[in-house]
Amino acid sequence: QGQGEVTKWVCPGPSLLVLFCHGQLLPWLRAEVWLGPEGAWDQARGPGGAGPCQDSTMLISFSTDELYNETVAKAFLQFYEHTAQVVWNQFMEATWNYVTNITNKNREEMLLKDMERSQHTLYFGTRAHLFKIDDFQDPDVKRMLSKLQNVYKAALPKDELQEYNQILAYMKTTYSMAQVCLSEGPCLPLEPDLEEIMATSRDQEELLWAWQGWRDAVGLQVRMTFERYVQLSNKAAKLNGYKDMGAMWRSAYESDTLERDVEQLYEELQPLYLNLHTYVRRALYRFYGPQLINLRGPIPAHVLGNMWAQSWVSILDLVLPFPEKPPEDVTRIMRGQVRPKKMFQEAEKFFTSLGLLSTPPEFWKNSMMERPTDGREVECHASAWDFYNGEDFRIKKCTEVTIEDLLSIFHQMGHIQYFLQYKNLSVIFRTGANPAFEEAVGSVITLSASSHSQLLTRGLLSQEEVNVLMSIALEMVAFIPFAYLVDLFRWKVFDGTIQKAVYNQEWWNLRLKYQGLCPPIPRTEDDFDPGAKFHISASMPYIRYFFSLVLQFQFHEALCKASGHVGPLHRCNIYNSKNAGKLLEDVLKLGSSKPWPEVLQKITGETKVSTKALMTYFKPLLNWLVTENVRHGEILGWPDFSCTFGNLILIPPPFQPQTLPRATTAGSHRYTARSGLPPPPPLPSAPLSHPPPWARP
Ligand SMILES: *[C@@H]1O[C@H](CO)[C@@H](O)[C@H](O)[C@H]1NC(C)=O
Ligand SMILES: *[C@@H]1O[C@H](CO)[C@@H](O)[C@H](O)[C@H]1NC(C)=O
Ligand SMILES: *[C@@H]1O[C@H](CO)[C@@H](O)[C@H](O)[C@H]1NC(C)=O
Ligand SMILES: [Zn+2]
Repeated sequence: QGQGEVTKWVCPGPSLLVLFCHGQLLPWLRAEVWLGPEGAWDQARGPGGAGPCQDSTMLISFSTDELYNETVAKAFLQFYEHTAQVVWNQFMEATWNYVTNITNKNREEMLLKDMERSQHTLYFGTRAHLFKIDDFQDPDVKRMLSKLQNVYKAALPKDELQEYNQILAYMKTTYSMAQVCLSEGPCLPLEPDLEEIMATSRDQEELLWAWQGWRDAVGLQVRMTFERYVQLSNKAAKLNGYKDMGAMWRSAYESDTLERDVEQLYEELQPLYLNLHTYVRRALYRFYGPQLINLRGPIPAHVLGNMWAQSWVSILDLVLPFPEKPPEDVTRIMRGQVRPKKMFQEAEKFFTSLGLLSTPPEFWKNSMMERPTDGREVECHASAWDFYNGEDFRIKKCTEVTIEDLLSIFHQMGHIQYFLQYKNLSVIFRTGANPAFEEAVGSVITLSASSHSQLLTRGLLSQEEVNVLMSIALEMVAFIPFAYLVDLFRWKVFDGTIQKAVYNQEWWNLRLKYQGLCPPIPRTEDDFDPGAKFHISASMPYIRYFFSLVLQFQFHEALCKASGHVGPLHRCNIYNSKNAGKLLEDVLKLGSSKPWPEVLQKITGETKVSTKALMTYFKPLLNWLVTENVRHGEILGWPDFSCTFGNLILIPPPFQPQTLPRATTAGSHRYTARSGLPPPPPLPSAPLSHPPPWARP
């Protein structure tokens, strides 16, 4: 009864792989696994459940020969596949239970499953290492084995791993449960209350209260823990063979030139950002006056409509190019008419219109689409989940009926679509071609959705095209420097360039240098403002959002071409285009089974991330902004860059001439000679009726 095959694996030899079917057996090893005829692990064999683990102890090891044997390697991968699905599924379940119902009991359960997952990862990772893959034929086998060798945090010794998991849970939960209390009255969570204040209040005292309160409630609380987090992260990275955690994160992009590439992309986009920054600063100056806004300086970080000033779309009303043609207030129209579930259905409709997959019934049953009203504590930050069983996919989101949330749902549904498309691949390949691809899928749809006439708001909008492009730019162009600096900061923290004594100061130096922002009140090293951003407290890499921002326009351009679109890129809507859908599908199906440049080439014909499509998309707006800024004799950038408060001065970073924008050096736009003004470009005037796109990084 299969004993022959089993003994094959029992061969002690130069014992390399040892598997105890014992009391201390891990649950995933208890699965009855048999070696089938083709050397495949065959679960169905083993009459009456009499599996190899019947014996009290069994050793499974590879002989030296077998490490050169591709058939053996394939069997090993099948065993991995079979067990990983179980282990990961349990981990996802437990994590879901915790983040949708934050209790001590659920946390313990999650930490337990996390340890099991790490043991599993380590177990297979160390063995994957042993195979001599050079002569293997199947590129998938080679790629899988090399991916398995990265064991991430599982490399840590058990007690430190436990500590690390506790720290991660602590930081993320602190963030999720933080509230800011009114002196007499209720305490407000970030979602929805503080976010709403940041978005809608035009009272700078109130804005400051929310801004500062949030940083006291989170950043301050996680600072000490963060220092230990950095140590343990680096230790784990080193054990995986990387020089620090930043390097390990960057390895997801399989590129040696990542840091240089991203800086270059940033520089290409800088003129666009600077012109937007300058234009918006003027508008804020008109509204708040010279006490708050210096026309030659950075903008205070609390008046841009967002807790992190990463998206400025909420202050559209203050900066609208043509106030006489205000966009329809979509949020107001949706309110009262629409339930959150309907918003998800609307996003689904877009995907199916392209011939893409619809979500299974489990999705609708298991997702958390609204903040629960039964008093449960939950983590509200929107996220999409794959449970690794091919059936269970969920979104967690505390949906509010707003246009921002509708478009955020498009983004999350993009993740789900990716999950659905690659669900038949090995779990090892069930991720995006690189992390930015995952983020770009839903966002590329929002680019069309923002010109999607069948949105809930059908026929209700009518606004100037410039107004629309402005609202999209406030979302996306404003995000460019932030998307870059979050990981620039952490890369420097991990590699030791930024020491813990100056975490907050260096954070603000980057905020100043790249975003042109000042803190609205003095900050000290007791504060830890980076920790007030979810992805930093939750230990989630961020550079994916930067790449994805650029990539989604490349995708958009390619999909528009496939759909037969002619005319300006910003007017393209791929809704209903089966050709565009097919192109996207072919790429999503690949998961991470191929190097991403190959995948990118399949969709765009190019192998490099390029800013060309993004710049094309915003060209009409850039022309308009340049004309406006010239008309006002603006100075691009923030030459008066020291942020001062009383006797405290924030020390500015050492600017390089090319990165310190001045009137004469900012990109291709020179403002020196009034006689040499560029002629005003014709204003685009075709009306367009759309809400701004939105993602939720
Ligand atoms: C590799 O292993 C398989 C299954 O154990 C065996 O049938 C085959 O002969 C081996 N190949 C070589 C080259 O040793
Ligand atoms: C939340 O978790 C607790 C266990 O800590 C459980 O007793 C309770 O039923 C859960 N609540 C919901 C609504 O699932
Ligand atoms: C996955 O495989 C099943 C069974 O072969 C097939 O019916 C389904 O279409 C596949 N799904 C995808 C997304 O390729
Ligand atoms: Zn996302």
